[in-house]
Amino acid sequence: MQNKQGAIRQDKRVATLTLDDGRSIELPILSGTLGQDVIDIHGMSKWGVFTYDPAFFSTASCTSEITFIDGDAGFLYYRGYPIEQLAEKSDFLEVCYLLLNGQLPDAEQKSNFVRKVTSHTMVHDQIVKFFSGFRRDAHPMAVMVGVVGALSAFYHDSLDINNPEHRNLAALRLLGKLPTIAAMAYKYHNGYPFMYPKYKLGYVENFIYMMFANPAEDYVQNPKLVRALERIFILHADHEQNASTSTVRLAGSSGANPFACISSGIAALWGPAHGGANEAALKMLETIGDVSKVPEFVQGVKDKKYRLMGFGHRVYKNMDPRASVMRDTCYEVLQELGLENDKLFKLAMELEQIALHDAYFIERKLYPNVDFYSGIVLRALGIPMNMFTVIFAVARTIGWISQWNEMMEGDDHKIGRPRQLYVGATRRDFVEMGKR
Ligand code: ACO
Repeated sequence: MQNKQGAIRQDKRVATLTLDDGRSIELPILSGTLGQDVIDIHGMSKWGVFTYDPAFFSTASCTSEITFIDGDAGFLYYRGYPIEQLAEKSDFLEVCYLLLNGQLPDAEQKSNFVRKVTSHTMVHDQIVKFFSGFRRDAHPMAVMVGVVGALSAFYHDSLDINNPEHRNLAALRLLGKLPTIAAMAYKYHNGYPFMYPKYKLGYVENFIYMMFANPAEDYVQNPKLVRALERIFILHADHEQNASTSTVRLAGSSGANPFACISSGIAALWGPAHGGANEAALKMLETIGDVSKVPEFVQGVKDKKYRLMGFGHRVYKNMDPRASVMRDTCYEVLQELGLENDKLFKLAMELEQIALHDAYFIERKLYPNVDFYSGIVLRALGIPMNMFTVIFAVARTIGWISQWNEMMEGDDHKIGRPRQLYVGATRRDFVEMGKR
C-alpha cells in the first residue's frame, strides 16, 4: 500500500490486538522510508474502542516528507539533507525553498524565489497603524500573534486554500513579512522609528537592518554575525510534528486561512516549554552568576531542586545535531566580538563540561540542546531576551507553512478531532437553585 507521498509500505505485516471480550483486531504495520514502524489504528473506532495517548507520546498524527529526526542517533534531516551540511553550505532562503518544494533549487529557481520573497517584505501601510493599538510594554510575542493573525484581513482576494497559487502566494507573503513584523514589534516596544526593508539586502541581513538601523545614520553589518543569525534561522526552520507545527496543522485541518494558522503556531511556540527555553537557559546562567557557584548549582540539579535549562530533549537522547553547530557558532561569534572571556560564556562552558562528564547526566542521556548555546549567541548579537522566541517564530514560519501546505496538498486530510476518555459526572438531573 502506498499513500500519496508514496512512502508507506504495508508488507502485509499486522499487529493483533485482543480485547477482553475475546475479539481480535488486526492492525496494519506501516513503514516509512526512515524511522520506526507505526501501527495503523485509524480504523479502530469501528470496533467501539479508542486509543489513549495524552501528549501524543506514541502517536504519529500524519505522514510527512519534510523533516526526519532520529533522536537516538542524533540525526536531523530536512528533505533528506543533514542539518550540519545545510548549516555549513546553504543559506536560509535556499533552505526555505527546499522545505517548501522538496528539492534544492537550481540557480534560476533560487534567484526567482529570493526575488519573490524579497518583493513581499513590505507590509500594508494599515499594518503600521495596527501597531499603535498595542501598549508599548506588550510582549513582542503578543504583538506577533495579533499582527500575523491580522494579515488575514488584508488578502481577501487570495485566500482560497484549495488553490495552489493562492497557497504559494500566502507562503511568500508570510516568509517575506514575518521579519518585518518582528523588527517592527521590537522597534515599537522601544519607541524607535520603524525601518522599511531594503530589497538589496539578504533576508537575514535585512532583518538585522530593520531591527538595529535607524534613519539618522548609516548602518554597517558584520558578515560573520549575519552568518551566525542565518545559522540560527536554518537550525530552527523545521522540526517535524512539534507542538506549534501540530497546532498549525490542526488549525489548518478545519480549513482556516494560512495567516490565522501561522498565528496559532506562534501562540503555541510562545510557551516556555517550547520556544522559550533559550531565554530560560540564559536566565539560569545569570542566576548562577559566577563559575565558582557551578558545583553547588549542579548539586542542586542532582538533588532535583531544579532542572538544568538547555539540557535534555524529549526526542534527542544523544547530542542534538543543532547544538553541535550552534556550539561552533557560539565560539565564532564570541571570538569575533572579543567576548571569549565573557562571564556567562565561561560559566556555560564550565556547566557543559561538568554535565558531559558527570554520571548523573550521562545515565539520563542529558546533553546540551540547541537552546543552551543559541541564547548566548543571540545575547552577543545584541538581541534582547524578549525577542528570542520571536526570532524562533521568524525562522520556524517556513516549517509551519511547508507542513500546512503538505497537509493541504494531500488528498486524505480531514478535520483533526482527537477523542477523549471521559471521567466526569455521569448523567444527573438539574437541581433548582433553592434546592442546591
Ligand atoms: N536537568 C536535570 N535533570 C533532567 C533534565 C534537566 N534539564 N531533563 C531531564 N532530567 C532528568 C529528569 O529529572 C529525569 O530523572 P529521573 O529519571 O531521575 O526522574 C530524567 O532526566 C528524565 O526526565 P524526563 O522529564 O522524563 O525527560 P523528558 O525527555 O520528558 O524531558 C525536557 C525533556 C522537557 C526537554 C527536559 O529535558 C527539560 O526539562 N529540559 C530543560 C528545558 C529545556 O532545555 N528545554 C528545551 C528543549 S529543546 C527545544 O524545545 C527547542
